[in-house]
Amino acid sequence: MAVGLLGLGAYLPERIMENDEWAEHVDTSDEWISSRTGILRRRVAAESESTADLAVAAAQRAIADSGLGVEDIDEIIVATDTPEVYIPDTASFVQARLGVGEVTAYDLGGSGCAGFVLGLDIARSRAIANDRRVLVIGVELLTRLMNWKDRNTCVLFGDAAGAAVVGAGPGVPEILAATAGTDGTRSDILGLEVGGTRAPFTEERALAGLHKEIVMNGREVFREAVRRMTKASNDVLAQAGFGVDDLDLVVPHQANRRILDAVGDRLGVPAEKLFANVQEYGNTGSASVPVALWEAREQGRIRPGDLVLLTAFGAGFHWAAVLVRF
Ligand code: ACO
Repeated sequence: MAVGLLGLGAYLPERIMENDEWAEHVDTSDEWISSRTGILRRRVAAESESTADLAVAAAQRAIADSGLGVEDIDEIIVATDTPEVYIPDTASFVQARLGVGEVTAYDLGGSGCAGFVLGLDIARSRAIANDRRVLVIGVELLTRLMNWKDRNTCVLFGDAAGAAVVGAGPGVPEILAATAGTDGTRSDILGLEVGGTRAPFTEERALAGLHKEIVMNGREVFREAVRRMTKASNDVLAQAGFGVDDLDLVVPHQANRRILDAVGDRLGVPAEKLFANVQEYGNTGSASVPVALWEAREQGRIRPGDLVLLTAFGAGFHWAAVLVRF
């Protein structure tokens, strides 16, 4: 039986923050943000919400969409860079809150925006090898942990969660191929350095706001993102014996509009086959691909039989791509 996506779900916090609002916090404008990134607005989680709330809401919707019950879930993978707490991992809270059994549950922490697609690759292997139904969640509450005074980064991000249930089933949208890779020599161009063992959290560092200081070389990130997502996409197509012309839809990580367009150009995919919702939600890290996939399906952009490519890239640098036949 085919192994693939049994169900999809997403959760988007209610509060919408328009670009203009950023001008109250930093020296920026709607014109700068929209022309450089394509982002028009993003969602911001309520103060009462934390990462596990977003994750559980998306997970419940994905499980309902799969027609399964929580008791059918055998494993949970949570991809996030913005965990519920430092220890234990977010997957522990999600396991308890969902009411699934005492199943295997773990985080792909720090895997950046590529975490969810990497999670699909792992889930597919676990489903094939162990006949498991694996819940994969991409969740990010970036507005809580970023520096609201750094205009270079704060305007880019938003909060969201997306989830998929991966397993075997008749007529399931099948994961035909998957690939993932890492180049740790580029870890310096995107990261959050304070809080680990190299630069432990201290009062001095906290007062300087360094625990929220995302280090980002925007131009290098841009270049690497385009290069790696294009390569991963071509690799996964070759693995499955397909060409770019066979694709019906590409759902890339929604980092910014210019990155999406550049990936489309390099791949040779026409604009109408490139799904974008970055204008509505900004960059939601590991939540961006599952939310975009879910929204594409909700909008009727994916029909039975369609060949859909997912690709993502994030801090590490990590990248991943998955090819699905709906
Ligand atoms: N508002 C106004 N001005 C700003 C803002 C802002 N929000 N942010 C930066 N600037 C200024 C900078 O200070 C700089 O000013 P200076 O030239 O006086 O020093 C100037 O704008 C930089 O402008 P550009 O060089 O034209 O900016 P660029 O076209 O390179 O766009 C951007 C910057 C949007 C960050 C781009 O490099 C990019 O998209 N990089 C990818 C980053 C990314 O997507 N990161 C997300 C996380 S990683 C991931 O998801 C894979």
